[in-house]
Amino acid sequence: MGEYTVTELEELHEQIRRCQKCRLYRGTTHAVPGEGPPHADIMFVGEAPGFHEDQQGRPFVGAAGQFLESLLASINLSRNDVFITNVVKHRPPNNRDPQVDELQACRPYLDRQIELIKPKMIVTLGRFSMELAWVDARISRIHGQPKKVGGIVYFPMFHPAAALHQPRYRSLIEQDFLKIPEILADLGSVDEGESSGPPVEQLSLF
Ligand code: URA
Repeated sequence: MGEYTVTELEELHEQIRRCQKCRLYRGTTHAVPGEGPPHADIMFVGEAPGFHEDQQGRPFVGAAGQFLESLLASINLSRNDVFITNVVKHRPPNNRDPQVDELQACRPYLDRQIELIKPKMIVTLGRFSMELAWVDARISRIHGQPKKVGGIVYFPMFHPAAALHQPRYRSLIEQDFLKIPEILADLGSVDEGESSGPPVEQLSLF
């Protein structure tokens, strides 16, 4: 893969910056397409930009982002080694949950990022991005258990912000994170799952 794909990714991110497909762009300062190496092996997918992300146009730069950076350091990685994005690219008002039509409108951007970047592993952070690969699952039951869908290994984790609100999640998240290097080193041993996830209009989010 060469420069062509990189250019396509940049063009996609420009489209995201101009996006008005749902109500979320109103009142925001910046869209947050995501960032990282255009051919990263690992992609982290969170929920939606928060205050600091909206201010800077960059993903995970607030308190949850600091925790994510320390988690990355625990496996000898930095944010420059991985691609980081969200299921929703504009900040919902007052950080409310994204709504189904907003997730639906934004989903093609994430799908295209995955197509272009071709990560080997996607770490889902929180229940919204978990829905990329699990149907009606409960994150408390499936976190830390990888599954392969369409040749990509998905690894579901609690959202790092959970640890900031409820400290008991911190060690669970830290332990799950430490599994990432061994999974990456042996992607072939992860079982293929049955479903690539429901159409977004069938998501049972509420
Ligand atoms: N939380 C997210 O889900 N994404 C961000 O970019 C920041 C905080």
